[in-house]
Amino acid sequence: MEVPSSSADRRITGSDITRRELIGTAVVTGGALVGGPLLPGFIPEAAAQAGTPPGTLDLALRVNGTDHHLTLDPRTTLLDALREHLHLTGSKKGCGLGQCGACTVLMDGKRMKACLSLAALVEGREITTIEGLVRGEQLHPLQAAFIERDAFQCGYCTPGQIMAGVACINEGHAGSPEEIRDWMSGNLCRCGAYDNIVAAIQDAARAIGSGRGG
Ligand code: FES
Ligand code: FES
Repeated sequence: MEVPSSSADRRITGSDITRRELIGTAVVTGGALVGGPLLPGFIPEAAAQAGTPPGTLDLALRVNGTDHHLTLDPRTTLLDALREHLHLTGSKKGCGLGQCGACTVLMDGKRMKACLSLAALVEGREITTIEGLVRGEQLHPLQAAFIERDAFQCGYCTPGQIMAGVACINEGHAGSPEEIRDWMSGNLCRCGAYDNIVAAIQDAARAIGSGRGG
């Protein structure tokens, strides 16, 4: 992905920390099927023969361009795999029920709620989390726009808002504030930062559209 070089772009530095920059770490870094059946095709005996502990499943997850080999309870959600096993805690657990959007990640470039998918079902797919948006020290245009627009208060919803916003822009659904609000309606913000979130998405869409990011 091309990295931007506009004035709106911000670099991560270790100095001159302001409140906005401190809270802005959320910008950068960010129910289980209890008692349900095992995955289709999951054969405990075969797993045991392969050296996998009983009741677990070996799988490979590709996250932010890196392959990770994990041994998981087959009921583990993608969100729990990211947070508890890969320690990528940028994706947040708000409701765990698909209702708040705090856990939004990209799967093959399309947004999805990580709390609603089993990790085993996304094997072989390209997962992108908030930690994967930054390129070196260069923020994604939408991360930069969130900071410029002060588009957060507590920051808990912010990683999910940004991942959904990136998808919203890529889908071509950032043409107007009304359209953005419509296509971002799956991401809730209890702090009510919606006006600034919409403004940030508009800014980033313009920057990307003019070839200054994406
Ligand atoms: S935690 Fe996934 S939608 Fe709320
Ligand atoms: S900034 Fe607090 S929930 Fe959105």
